[in-house]
Amino acid sequence: MGFFMPTKVLYGKDIVLKNRELFQSLGETFLIITGRSSRKNGSFDDILDVLEGKHVYIYDETPENPPLEVVKEISERFEDVDVVIGLGGGSPMDTAKAVAVLIENKHLKPEDLYDKSKYQSAKPIICIPTTAGTGSEVTQYSVLTVNGRKRGFSHECVFPKISFVDYKYTFTLSESLTLSTALDALSHAVEGFLSTRATPFSDMIAIESVKIIKEYLPKLMSDLANEFYRERMMFASTLAGMVIAQTGTTVAHALGYSLTTDKGVKHGLATAVFLPYELRIAKKYGCEKANVIIDMFDGSLYEFYRLLNVRLDTLITDDDIHSWASIVINASHLSVTPGKYDLETIVEAYKEVREHFC
Ligand SMILES: [Fe+2]
Repeated sequence: MGFFMPTKVLYGKDIVLKNRELFQSLGETFLIITGRSSRKNGSFDDILDVLEGKHVYIYDETPENPPLEVVKEISERFEDVDVVIGLGGGSPMDTAKAVAVLIENKHLKPEDLYDKSKYQSAKPIICIPTTAGTGSEVTQYSVLTVNGRKRGFSHECVFPKISFVDYKYTFTLSESLTLSTALDALSHAVEGFLSTRATPFSDMIAIESVKIIKEYLPKLMSDLANEFYRERMMFASTLAGMVIAQTGTTVAHALGYSLTTDKGVKHGLATAVFLPYELRIAKKYGCEKANVIIDMFDGSLYEFYRLLNVRLDTLITDDDIHSWASIVINASHLSVTPGKYDLETIVEAYKEVREHFC
């Protein structure tokens, strides 16, 4: 049993502003990778404030599900920086991780990110999440889009050096983003708990995260301005990130990726809709832990989703399902998911989700 999560996590309201000296000591030249929303939620102002007097480069056009081409463009444009800051949701943080590797290792091509033997280090990475869901602030993963498909890479050198986690940046999240990001966190906790790579340490954290999400997500969805509920979800999200840093994700993530790339369904939503199916298959193959989660949700996650009004407003055809299934069957996630997944089981997963949510 092991636990490895080398990121220093600083957590709490105004945590960026409270660490001005720490920021000032990190280097002279900073690259902030972010999206447009950081100007609305106050995080951008906070970071500029604590970096006063430093050279600060800004890339603020990070798209959702960032393509590898964007990573290439940024790393060519900002060649010489001491620190890379990922500010935002999963997309800016994952982009920052990839860029930090490419700036440090100038000989690498973006495709080389997927061959971990080709590099050993990255520029120091600072992550500041502004959504509560991705957990990227405490993981060694970066998920990018390569040739229209989501593809993650994993390397210990992209664990952030420090993450500053402040729930106040989530106050401005819309109802739909609040839900979809929270469901990403739920997926990380549940998938990590079921994973064959789970450990007693990761299990403790996973269960705590699921408990918090079960109790507070419905409350938050009916009271989006509630500071305490926002804080609880941010905490649960960071915990769930720590879980997948140990375990990786399992089949629900692999199943969800195509819904995101081909139908534009938000990542967390696209993934979480497959959890009831994953739990059922795990249970069928004798995985006792599936029952622990099923019992926490009083017999079925479907009822919890009904309460949250989880819907997929998209059309899924049989052709979609067969083409997606042919991708999932080769996903590495299957080898750490309890139960057996063949093409037929994967097709069934998509059909069940279509029936319940479309
Ligand atoms: Fe995720």
